[in-house]
Amino acid sequence: MSENVLEVRQLKKYFSLPRSSGGSVRAVDGVDLTIGQGEVVGLVGESGSGKSTVGKCIVRLLEPTEGTIRLHGRDITTASRRQLRGVRTEMQMVFQDPYSTLNPRMTIGDIVAEPMQLHRLARGRELDTKVAGLLDKVGLASHLRHRYPHELSGGQRQRAGLARSLSVEPSLLVADEPVSALDVSVQAAVLNLLMDLQRDMGFSCLFIGHDLATVEFLCDRVAVMYLGRIVEEVNTTDLFRAPKHPYTQSLLSAAVVPDPKLQRTRQRIVLQGDIPSPINPPTGCTFHTRCPVAQLPLCSDTSPTLTDVTGRSHLASCHLITADGTAPDVTLSQTTENAWSKT
Ligand SMILES: Nc1ncnc2c1ncn2[C@@H]1O[C@H](COP(=O)(O)OP(=O)(O)OP(=O)(O)O)[C@@H](O)[C@H]1O
Ligand SMILES: [Mg+2]
Repeated sequence: MSENVLEVRQLKKYFSLPRSSGGSVRAVDGVDLTIGQGEVVGLVGESGSGKSTVGKCIVRLLEPTEGTIRLHGRDITTASRRQLRGVRTEMQMVFQDPYSTLNPRMTIGDIVAEPMQLHRLARGRELDTKVAGLLDKVGLASHLRHRYPHELSGGQRQRAGLARSLSVEPSLLVADEPVSALDVSVQAAVLNLLMDLQRDMGFSCLFIGHDLATVEFLCDRVAVMYLGRIVEEVNTTDLFRAPKHPYTQSLLSAAVVPDPKLQRTRQRIVLQGDIPSPINPPTGCTFHTRCPVAQLPLCSDTSPTLTDVTGRSHLASCHLITADGTAPDVTLSQTTENAWSKT
């Protein structure tokens, strides 16, 4: 039995385009990812980098094109629908917009009870007690079990979605931007709830997010995606303290820093243009077209491999990181600007 809850190897997901246009969208293009027992791993990257596609392949809402997905050591990549029913009790997903995933014709109580009924985990009075316990756990007043999703606020709906997902006591929760659709004022409350539940129940979590501050707050380890690939992966402290990949450095420099003093002295790196199309990704290092320190033709010709650059499990894929783990400093390049001078 493997110690890891999740092991993803060389996952690829290509979406075919209509025949007339030919080609395919390489949404995910060779992702390796491991999540240990009780570990919270963040997946970040710009819009369109393939984060949700990774999440959906893991919970098998999408069929992977290539690669393997193992849950507790068991290969579930090609599990049949029937086999997947068993897997669903071990692995659950929460989405950005719980409204679209909560059945509008069911009460909150029934929505939370349904997975437990489906998997025959409880019935009758025991089921009632479990539903009441779950609602309490996610901070929903007991009378809300008789309400319908449209009668709840966004934050309450997301709490109900969490109660439903956690009702089967999964060992892995894939949370795809679970608070981005919520008002800023309730985001923190729901995130705190997620963190408390994780500590309390001990499930492992893949947390997909845009907001770096949230990821820093929640995650033990972070993987940074660019155009369908992971370009850097390391424990959260090292990622924020000493990012190695020029893309990660750029992402972090663009994030808002809570400390105004630091913000004033900080260089902001301006990434040029949008993320390229995954239909026809750039050659070599796919980031070279926007990289402030790219060296041609090295970076445009040869694809870098994701390797441990420090000997302390700090993975990064960049030709310009030296053998002793020194990263190129993107703030020294031409395309930076002083954040303060702009505001
Ligand atoms: N069903 C689909 N058919 C064709 N292309 C798709 C499909 N789903 C996603 N894509 C494409 O795959 C790429 C990755 O999309 P994905 O939704 O995984 O990105 P993301 O990182 O989650 O972005 P966001 O931060 O906006 O949620 C994008 O270019 C997207 O347009
Ligand atoms: Mg997404």
